[in-house]
Amino acid sequence: MTPSDVKATLSFSDGSPSMDLPLYKGNIGPDVIDIRKLYGQTGKFTYDPGFLSTASCNSTITYIDGDKGELLYRGYPIEQLAKNCDFLETCHLLLYGDLPDAAQRVDFTARVSNHTMVHEQMQFFLRGFRRDAHPMAIMTGLVGALSAFYHDSTDINNPEHREIAAIRLIAKMPTLVAMAYKYTCGQPYMYPKNKLSYSANFMQMMFANPCEEYVQNDVLVRAMDRIFILHADHEQNASTSTVRLCGSSGTNPFAAIAAGVACLWGPAHGGANEACLNMLGDIQKMGGVEKIGEFIKQVKDKNSNVKLMGFGHRVYKNYDPRATLMRETCHEVLGALGLHDDPLFKLAMALEKIALEDDYFVSRKLYPNVDFYSGIVQRAIGIPVPLFTAVFALARTVGWIAQLNEMIGDPEYKIGRPRQLYVGAAQRNVLPIAQR
Ligand code: SDX
Repeated sequence: MTPSDVKATLSFSDGSPSMDLPLYKGNIGPDVIDIRKLYGQTGKFTYDPGFLSTASCNSTITYIDGDKGELLYRGYPIEQLAKNCDFLETCHLLLYGDLPDAAQRVDFTARVSNHTMVHEQMQFFLRGFRRDAHPMAIMTGLVGALSAFYHDSTDINNPEHREIAAIRLIAKMPTLVAMAYKYTCGQPYMYPKNKLSYSANFMQMMFANPCEEYVQNDVLVRAMDRIFILHADHEQNASTSTVRLCGSSGTNPFAAIAAGVACLWGPAHGGANEACLNMLGDIQKMGGVEKIGEFIKQVKDKNSNVKLMGFGHRVYKNYDPRATLMRETCHEVLGALGLHDDPLFKLAMALEKIALEDDYFVSRKLYPNVDFYSGIVQRAIGIPVPLFTAVFALARTVGWIAQLNEMIGDPEYKIGRPRQLYVGAAQRNVLPIAQR
């Protein structure tokens, strides 16, 4: 963080004393105005609900340029990572700051493979849920429950403990997501097979069963791996900010990640891929492509509360580079499965075309985001719609834990404690009930 030689001067029209605020420059991206001394010197807070203009931290992990549609993990463009690396290499990059060399890749893969099983007791947490429980309700419970198995052995101020917690979470999320799926469909759990790659292991835990040999489809395994890479981290989004704030109290890393899972579930965030597929299904029921105009009319009607799910983004005011890559994967997967005539995919392509030509969306800079196509790919792979966000949580776990460890590893970090603008009742006295 480099101090800028430019200062910001804050002055007040009522003649209150002005104050100089230092600016800091990042390596790329917007400068920041350091307001840490503002309240102490002026007795005033800044006000920024939704944090549209607020940097909550400094970070070296992920950079997004919303205007250029750029996404870098530790400086590497997402397009290059998606084409040249696999998810575990990307995990190594996000956790340690660089892509592994051949020896590091073997070592990291072995370390993750050694932690893919969960404690046998975990099965009993699942039994408490109804079979039709939403997978994200199950995942919020299971990830939080991991705290119970490691709480006594996790001192978050110990870098080695932080590292093993990261490895455990990355390794166990596929096992837990697959268990959540098997539980809801009444099939036996499949144990991890550590000789398989990370994504192939997830696919066999999801789709294999004890009665027959499971044959991997390499195109689908590669597509799953790419979905994980594209969802791995994304700067200070809502769930990552939740993990940071939760972790800033010094809580167990498993509990902090469980908070991230809960936040990601929301349809405005990670739940958008499920909501997008449901939206496409609704348009299909309305009559398909011919009814897109009618649906778009609903979206434009503010009273309808209908949004075009999978469109829009707080940061990307141009295209989401992940959506472009996900659309490519869509073509590959549907082509490999002979599903190019998949009606939902054709509906999605038609909807995207119409929306991109409609001034309502263009003027609001609403473009397809990563969730618009990820649902169609996951559905083609065979992932049930309610499980889409759990798959997103699986992939985002490495980003959450990398960001959490970066924060905890910063000796300057403090517990996060925002203030407010109070607009409630001034002090008043309690009256006896007979006088209320
Ligand atoms: C993810 O932050 C991240 O990085 C998140 C994420 C990650 O990797 O972590 O990228 C993952 O969450 C992607 C986003 C997935 N969500 C959706 O697809 C849900 C639909 N999108 C919207 O809910 C919305 O676009 C948000 C929440 C994503 C962003 O909302 P903002 O930035 O707060 O923008 P806004 O709500 O203030 O909208 C600005 C205008 C408004 O209209 P006006 O009041 O100006 O007339 O655009 C409209 C909104 O009504 N608008 C939409 C819309 N999104 C915004 N109108 C219709 N459909 C939409 N999808």
